[in-house]
Amino acid sequence: PIYMATVSAPTNIACIKYWGKADKHWNTPTNDSVSVTLDQSDLRAVTTAAASSKFTQDRLWLNGIEDEGAPTNKRFRACVDGVLKLAKNPQKWKGCKIHVSSYNTFPTAAGLASSAAGYAALVAAMSALVDAQEEFPGQLSTLARQGSGSACRSLYGGFVAWRKGGEKEDWSDSLAQQVQDEHHWPELRALILVVSDAKKDTSSTAGMSTSVATSTLLQHRIDKVVPDRMIEIEKAFSEKDFEAFGKVTMRDSNQFHAVCMDTYPPIFYMNDISRMVVRIVHAYNAWAGEIRAAYTFDAGPNAVLYTLDQYVVEVGALMKHYFPETGAVSDYINNAEYIEQV
Ligand code: DP6
Repeated sequence: PIYMATVSAPTNIACIKYWGKADKHWNTPTNDSVSVTLDQSDLRAVTTAAASSKFTQDRLWLNGIEDEGAPTNKRFRACVDGVLKLAKNPQKWKGCKIHVSSYNTFPTAAGLASSAAGYAALVAAMSALVDAQEEFPGQLSTLARQGSGSACRSLYGGFVAWRKGGEKEDWSDSLAQQVQDEHHWPELRALILVVSDAKKDTSSTAGMSTSVATSTLLQHRIDKVVPDRMIEIEKAFSEKDFEAFGKVTMRDSNQFHAVCMDTYPPIFYMNDISRMVVRIVHAYNAWAGEIRAAYTFDAGPNAVLYTLDQYVVEVGALMKHYFPETGAVSDYINNAEYIEQV
């Protein structure tokens, strides 16, 4: 027989950014991070994992095209083999090979954290296939983390922290933890402004490695800035305090990009349009006399704007007015099922 399971997993957008690896082998971070899991959106990976003793080798297809290197790829192996070890009935899978097919439903090459959804979906699909049993809460996220760091946070809905860990020799304490579930703050919205669909020129993995090696600001951020911000933003999210949540989110995005500038040679992810978005959001909040929108940028020029239900039309109209040329502003809501079994 061929056994199969299909799941979809969403992406997530960090409010406190992961930037810097403490251990490259285990893919663990130099600081804690926290993100909002998006869902009901197009930003998902849909993955089918199949197992059979009739298959002759492990194989992976991405959007229908085979990735020949995958079976020996360290990230792929960590996820697949890691989940197999947690199978409820390990005997059943002995002698089986694994086929994985993954599609992402992202707007064409928007460059928006597709690896987060991809590796989360891989781990979730494998887990559904073999009925994986976690030995401790968050264990599956330690596997997704070895695929791509940010992927560990996509295994949960709502507001999710990645605790950096490091007390344990094998880094099994570097895992995702749900701070608030996806029903906690239904008024929260994320709008995505696709500024450019060009592929980013410095990968996160390469960029953060150079930052760790050269940026003194990054060390200051790790020691002095992130610990307080984590406490502040978890409190703000829990109290649904958009003013505090938005302010910390914007400041952390700005510091992340300042670290990129402080990296030698410097890395530029934001472009002129990204910087205009920043100015307009601040002008809009100043006009409103309160924070109604908060921007954040990852390793690319596209803006994610957090706002509340009551301002979503206003913020969307504002962006369309100033940036008629940019890609669709879409509304992604974060109160649905986060991992969907298809
Ligand atoms: C700027 O998770 O893509 O989006 O672990 O090397 O695969 P790897 O990096 P990745 O880095 C994401 C960086 C970020 C911030 C974040 O999502 O926290």
